[in-house]
Amino acid sequence: MSSSASSDDDENSRPFLSSFTSSMMLQKVNIKRIQAELIPGTIARRETKIGDLDADYLEDRVSFSEDKLMDANSKAVMMAWEKPLMEAHAKAICSRGGHILNIRFGMGLVDTAIQQYKPVTHTIVEAHPEVYERMRLSGWTKKENVKVVFGRWQDVVHQLESYDGIFFDTYGEYYEDLIEFHQHLPSLLKPGGIYSFFNGLCGGNAFFHVVYCQLVSLELESLDYSTRLIP
Ligand SMILES: C[S@@+](CC[C@H](N)C(=O)[O-])C[C@H]1O[C@@H](n2cnc3c(N)ncnc32)[C@H](O)[C@@H]1O
Repeated sequence: MSSSASSDDDENSRPFLSSFTSSMMLQKVNIKRIQAELIPGTIARRETKIGDLDADYLEDRVSFSEDKLMDANSKAVMMAWEKPLMEAHAKAICSRGGHILNIRFGMGLVDTAIQQYKPVTHTIVEAHPEVYERMRLSGWTKKENVKVVFGRWQDVVHQLESYDGIFFDTYGEYYEDLIEFHQHLPSLLKPGGIYSFFNGLCGGNAFFHVVYCQLVSLELESLDYSTRLIP
């Protein structure tokens, strides 16, 4: 399931939320409770080694094959079967044309799809040295409309401009990191722009996957964005 948020307050994007207002209120209470349940887990993770997941991953080797990008623990960072999903994200964020930002390259599936929409500019942030090197060797750093920013998004976010479409695909991060990124949306996303993200927050559990979809919708709503789930 992909999710997109638009800063456009027009009538086409609001009804989805307003028709659900009363049930959303109830859900809001439940979601606050679930959020409270999730926080101790987060604190526990941050106090253990797993809390450094992203930092560890970025220092380790990765390996590429035809159909996947793997980390040093042989865990898949990205897999070729995700291509249709990445194409759907690209279609959503490129629907207004203009300037596009993708946070994280991986196998470049979403970037390849974005290029098909011929954006005016296409900025890509990537932090892993080996992934960056592969981008360089495959010509991404030389494409006319592409700007590659090497570094952790947390470190380079202030170098970025504002965009008509933004995609964010996480690896080795948590819900809190996604929330942290969302705090930058008001300056990164142009009015009327479209933001979409890969929701891998609890991919192995259908119930909590839906919970996270709702949590993120509410959180984006609190930033004044309307949201739409695209099945
Ligand atoms: C799941 S992959 C992205 C897949 C991509 N959407 C695609 O279509 O192929 C995640 C990528 O994020 C990069 N990465 C991990 N942590 C990062 C960070 N803090 N800032 C920027 N890039 C990061 C990884 O090196 C990896 O290439």
